[in-house]
Amino acid sequence: MQRRAVSQLAFLVLAGFLLTEAVEIEVHDKDNKTCIYATLSVNFTVLYEVNGTMKNATFQLPNSLSSNGSVCGDNNSAPLLKMDFGHGHSLSLNFSHSAGIFRGDVLTFTYNTSDATLFPGAKNTSVNKVAVDSLMEAAPLNTIYTCRSAKAIASKAVIMVLYDVGIQAFVENGTISKNESICKADMPTTMAPLTTWTASTMTPTKPSPPSLPAVGNYTLKNGSDFCLLANMALQLNLTYTDDNQTRVINIDSNSTASGHCGHQDAALVLEDASTTILFHFIVEQSKFFLKEVKTNISLVVNGSTILLHSNNSSLRYWQASVGSSYMCQKEQRLRVTDKLVINAFNVWVQPFELKSGTFSRAEECSLDDDSILIPIIVGAALAVLIVIVVIAYVIGRRKSYAGYQTL
Ligand SMILES: *[C@@H]1O[C@H](CO)[C@@H](O)[C@H](O)[C@H]1NC(C)=O
Ligand SMILES: *[C@@H]1O[C@H](CO)[C@@H](O)[C@H](O)[C@H]1NC(C)=O
Ligand SMILES: *[C@@H]1O[C@H](CO)[C@@H](O)[C@H](O)[C@H]1NC(C)=O
Ligand SMILES: *[C@@H]1O[C@H](CO)[C@@H](O)[C@H](O)[C@H]1NC(C)=O
Ligand SMILES: *[C@@H]1O[C@H](CO)[C@@H](O)[C@H](O)[C@H]1NC(C)=O
Ligand SMILES: *[C@@H]1O[C@H](CO)[C@@H](O)[C@H](O)[C@H]1NC(C)=O
Ligand SMILES: *[C@@H]1O[C@H](CO)[C@@H](O)[C@H](O)[C@H]1NC(C)=O
Ligand SMILES: *[C@@H]1O[C@H](CO)[C@@H](O)[C@H](O)[C@H]1NC(C)=O
Ligand SMILES: *[C@@H]1O[C@H](CO)[C@@H](O)[C@H](O)[C@H]1NC(C)=O
Ligand SMILES: *[C@@H]1O[C@H](CO)[C@@H](O)[C@H](O)[C@H]1NC(C)=O
Ligand SMILES: *[C@@H]1O[C@H](CO)[C@@H](O)[C@H](O)[C@H]1NC(C)=O
Ligand SMILES: *[C@@H]1O[C@H](CO)[C@@H](O)[C@H](O)[C@H]1NC(C)=O
Repeated sequence: MQRRAVSQLAFLVLAGFLLTEAVEIEVHDKDNKTCIYATLSVNFTVLYEVNGTMKNATFQLPNSLSSNGSVCGDNNSAPLLKMDFGHGHSLSLNFSHSAGIFRGDVLTFTYNTSDATLFPGAKNTSVNKVAVDSLMEAAPLNTIYTCRSAKAIASKAVIMVLYDVGIQAFVENGTISKNESICKADMPTTMAPLTTWTASTMTPTKPSPPSLPAVGNYTLKNGSDFCLLANMALQLNLTYTDDNQTRVINIDSNSTASGHCGHQDAALVLEDASTTILFHFIVEQSKFFLKEVKTNISLVVNGSTILLHSNNSSLRYWQASVGSSYMCQKEQRLRVTDKLVINAFNVWVQPFELKSGTFSRAEECSLDDDSILIPIIVGAALAVLIVIVVIAYVIGRRKSYAGYQTL
């Protein structure tokens, strides 16, 4: 019962029915008529570096913001909704229209890691910018586009979750429309228009398990030198419901790689359109290993996007000596959480101490697999050594004893 209540709550939150207070903005033209109207909630998650480790800052678009930087647009410039908040942060969206429809174009998020209230302890203090497709579907002019469902947009170190959205640009005569253009994610599936075209796309398709993932060669540089190499094919096995439905997705081998290198720790962040994965490697007693995996995945389930976070920072996978690389040709199933297993194939990684930009001698996982063999070998060697020492001692004693007797 308890569990069910919790999951239902989670569902309601995801569906956007639990209204958190959304930000509401009206941009006025020089005649003080509304030209852009927007109401929205945004949750930001921003990965940033603190003293050698990565941390995420999470915050919401605050109510206290200034839209002074917005412009209504005219024949020569596109309308722009700009929301400035805090110390040098802003979220902006420009619009275009043609043939009786309008849509959001580029969503730009600017953040200032010097702001210690949102980014405490940030190592690099700078103003950063990410620009992404707004994911706003086209809507007829003189209607208000609404989308209560959460839509996640991930880029570089940033994840934005937009929900409870209502937007109208190109507002005519200063009057916000009463007619809503509801986004696809909010449409109850039963109410979906059943034209032949949608009928074929609406038939419940069970995603067939994807083929084996392609090997991606991911690299990080420190200046002009490679400091981290990772060649691997990755597949995620996600459990996304309480009744253990799973979905298997392949990581695009073209995913962009970013992150940082260090002497004691290194982070590799892979991103494609729907997935961000962080691999955090650390060094302990001249061994390196994968200690943490963190993922943010947006998954489309029944037409709506759900966001899955997974994080485990007490892993110990892919271990090898510093100065070597780690290699494993066969499939590995790396359990990260109850909800996420990473299937890894043809792994070859080296996060530390690259020599001339290439992999060093590889330590292969087949050895690791028989890891109980190593203590046995070491133990046996030790036992043999002890026996030798004892024998030597006994012989030595006998000799000196014998020598003493002859005297
Ligand atoms: C603009 O219109 C709003 C109401 O729509 C009003 O409250 C505000 O005072 C007006 N501002 C100016 C400068 O006329
Ligand atoms: C956004 O963040 C708030 C506060 O952290 C949380 O209550 C809410 O569930 C989040 N919404 C989404 C859609 O992630
Ligand atoms: C940063 O790390 C250094 C050494 O690793 C430590 O001396 C220092 O206190 C740390 N600073 C913060 C703010 O954690
Ligand atoms: C990152 O954010 C998630 C929630 O989105 C939180 O559970 C986790 O503890 C955060 N990790 C760090 C290192 O701050
Ligand atoms: C923004 O607008 C507010 C009032 O709407 C005003 O007090 C403030 O000075 C404006 N800021 C800028 C930079 O124009
Ligand atoms: C924009 O173009 C329309 C016709 O194309 C014209 O009537 C109108 O005056 C123009 N507005 C501005 C501000 O140039
Ligand atoms: C960034 O934040 C710092 C600290 O709050 C502030 O001094 C600086 O002016 C901000 N930068 C911008 C571009 O607003
Ligand atoms: C919106 O802004 C982006 C980048 O700032 C620009 O590339 C794009 O052309 C703009 N779109 C319109 C319709 O002006
Ligand atoms: C705007 O005003 C014009 C003239 O008053 C009218 O013809 C038009 O229908 C109005 N548009 C809307 C969306 O109300
Ligand atoms: C990736 O690296 C492997 C081994 O270094 C190499 O054989 C392969 O051709 C590379 N693939 C691409 C797409 O660069
Ligand atoms: C995904 O996980 C499920 C449940 O743990 C398992 O039955 C299935 O075989 C896994 N699929 C793949 C391709 O790993
Ligand atoms: C990945 O990049 C290669 C070469 O740039 C290209 O041929 C291939 O179509 C890309 N794959 C995807 C899924 O974008």
